[in-house]
Amino acid sequence: AIIMDGNGRWGVKYKNSRNAGHREGLNTVEKVIKSSIKQNIKYLTLYAFSTENWKRPKKEIKYLFDLLETFLINKIEELHKKGIKLKIIGTKNFSKKLNELLKKSEKKTQKNKKLQINLALNYGSKNELINTFKRIKSKKITENKVKNNLYTKDTPDPDILIRTGGKKRLSNFMLWQLAYSELYFLDKLWPDFKPQDLRKILKNFYKVKRNYGGI
Ligand code: IPE
Ligand code: IPE
Ligand code: MG
Repeated sequence: AIIMDGNGRWGVKYKNSRNAGHREGLNTVEKVIKSSIKQNIKYLTLYAFSTENWKRPKKEIKYLFDLLETFLINKIEELHKKGIKLKIIGTKNFSKKLNELLKKSEKKTQKNKKLQINLALNYGSKNELINTFKRIKSKKITENKVKNNLYTKDTPDPDILIRTGGKKRLSNFMLWQLAYSELYFLDKLWPDFKPQDLRKILKNFYKVKRNYGGI
C-alpha cells in the first residue's frame, strides 16, 4: 500500500504549480503499476484522495478528478489487457459521470487476476471503520466480522506500507489493515519515486523477520 504524498511540493518546486505535480505523480503511478506486475505483486493499494482532502481549493480538487477521469477513459483498456483488476475503496460521491466511469471500470476488470489495484478515493479509515461497525448487526463483534465488512474485505492486509514526501504519519489510511505491516517512509516526493525505490524496499522487506507478537 502506498501513501503517494508530495505531488504539490514537487509541482511548486519544479513547475511553479501544484497541479503540475499531480500530473507528474500520475506518471509515477503508471511506472509503479508496471513495476508491480514485474515484481509479481498481487495487491497494490494507492491512496489518491482522502476524506480530508475536500478541504483543498476547489480548483485543485477539480484538477485531480479531471486527471483521474481522463486517465480512466484513456487507459482502462490497457489496464484490462494487462490483467489488472481495479477496485475503488472509499465512498463514490463524485459527479454522476465519474461515479459511472468508476463503476464501469470496476465491472470491466472484475475477473482479472494478475494484479488488483485498490484505488483509495474519498477514503478515510475512520469513516470505513464506522461503516463497518454499523453493518455488523449482531452484538458480538469479532475480528473476522470486522475484516469481512471493510472496503478491503477481499484483500489481504498490506505486507508493506510506503509513504513518500517526508511525513511520518498515516493521515487516516488503513488504520485497521496496517496493524502488522512493515512501514517505509521516504523523503522523496511522489513524482520522484522510481521503480528502483520499490525494488529496494522489496529487497529489504524479504529480509525482515516478522514476529506478529511471537518470537
Ligand atoms: C498528493 O500529494 C496527495 C494527494 C492528496 C493527491 P499532495 O498533494 O498532498 O502533495 P504535498 O504534500 O502538498 O506536497
Ligand atoms: C495523504 O496526504 C493523502 C493522500 C496521499 C491521498 P495528505 O497530504 O492529504 O496528508 P496530510 O494532510 O499531510 O496529513
Ligand atoms: Mg500532502
